[in-house]
Amino acid sequence: MKKEQLTIALSKGRILKETLPLLERANIVPTEDIFSSRKLIFDTNHANIKLVIIRATDVPTYVEYGGADMGIAGKDVLMEHGGKGLYEPLDLEIAKCKLMVAGLKNSPPIQGRLRVATKFVNIAKQYFATQGQQIDVIKLYGAMELAPIMGLADRIVDIVDTGNTLIANGLEPMDFIANVSSRLVVGQAPMKLKYRQIQPILDMLSKAIADSKAEPA
Ligand code: ATP
Ligand code: PRP
Repeated sequence: MKKEQLTIALSKGRILKETLPLLERANIVPTEDIFSSRKLIFDTNHANIKLVIIRATDVPTYVEYGGADMGIAGKDVLMEHGGKGLYEPLDLEIAKCKLMVAGLKNSPPIQGRLRVATKFVNIAKQYFATQGQQIDVIKLYGAMELAPIMGLADRIVDIVDTGNTLIANGLEPMDFIANVSSRLVVGQAPMKLKYRQIQPILDMLSKAIADSKAEPA
């Protein structure tokens, strides 16, 4: 029986550097160098598997609407998307970091509504709602750390890894929201209709994750 085509959407940028070695351990290898190419779609050593390289925030959208069968994206991006129409069968345990609330070091408590700058609008709204705190969200697309310095916001919701970016800008972590790592997501329709093709990939990736924990690259 002819194998059905499978498309895996990969987040470009930071996650890609950690994704490709993991895929290679799972014996999925692009036939050309992704980093030196302007192409967006890549063949692999498997005739039926293609990789598409897109912005991290677009990965869940592609998989939700069937533009890709599977995808790899950060838990932060998946939480912000909401996860509609997606299965999340594997934690790849790469690109680990935390979602945190941060603010200017030693800033006094804020009276009234808190102004929160972030690109994670939904996550911020949900988090502060669970704290019973009223906020105004200011949507930004990057360099969130700048917002409190420039008086644009009282707090930010952003990714923290080493904490160096916060320190370098006179900010401090305040509240922990969630641990983040990259996840494999699968669309609802392909999970049913292409399961025979998907299942061996899940198995190979699970083994690759275990192997890379035992023997880091
Ligand atoms: P976009 O281009 O869509 O704005 P981005 O610039 O946030 O995305 P990257 O910086 O490549 O893209 O980050 C992609 C993912 O990597 C994030 O969604 C998060 O899961 C993870 N990540 C981001 N920053 C860090 C960090 N400092 N350490 C570890 N992982 C991180
Ligand atoms: C991410 C995040 C923080 C920084 C945290 O930014 O938005 O600014 O990493 O990492 P640290 O705690 O180790 O300093 P990134 O470098 O991806 O830049 P961008 O979000 O502006 O694209």
